Amino acid sequence: MGEIDGRPCRLTVCRGCCCGTRKKVPGVDHKAQLARLSAIDDHAGRTVPVRTSKCLGICFQANVVVVQPSQKGHAAGGRPVWLGEMTEDGLLDALDDWIFDGGPGLAPLPDALADHVTSKDAKKPKKRKRPKKAKAAEKERKAEKAARPAKKGDEKKRRKKDKGKKGKRRKKK
Ligand code: FES
Repeated sequence: MGEIDGRPCRLTVCRGCCCGTRKKVPGVDHKAQLARLSAIDDHAGRTVPVRTSKCLGICFQANVVVVQPSQKGHAAGGRPVWLGEMTEDGLLDALDDWIFDGGPGLAPLPDALADHVTSKDAKKPKKRKRPKKAKAAEKERKAEKAARPAKKGDEKKRRKKDKGKKGKRRKKK
């Protein structure tokens, strides 16, 4: 085992109003995920300290995990890395491997985590509004449909309905 280089990497795992909740992130065993993260060891055999946190402010990316560099990693230029949408087991495996290899500042970010890098300033993507032209076109389409003469089938149905009414009236007499 190599020499122990100061403090190890640390993890901050968000467990606030959204992260770690079945309502916002269904289909994930959040307890098991936290246990899995809490069992990560680095290359020196040190278990990585895990701290849970209240909402980190980017709920739309739940579950959020922040990886703090080790002391050595920090000295090498590593900075905290925010990871969002950490919901799959494969992502936790990749995180485990990364920390084992040294984490921020010492080992390159695994490809599997590249799409999950985020920041505390991440902005929630706005819902795409339909352009006004599309709305106007839809209104026009509806108006045309309303003005269109009834189809053949519709006429038949109407006649049948009328016949039925007449029949009922006759029976009453
Ligand atoms: S609950 Fe995790 S970012 Fe809000």
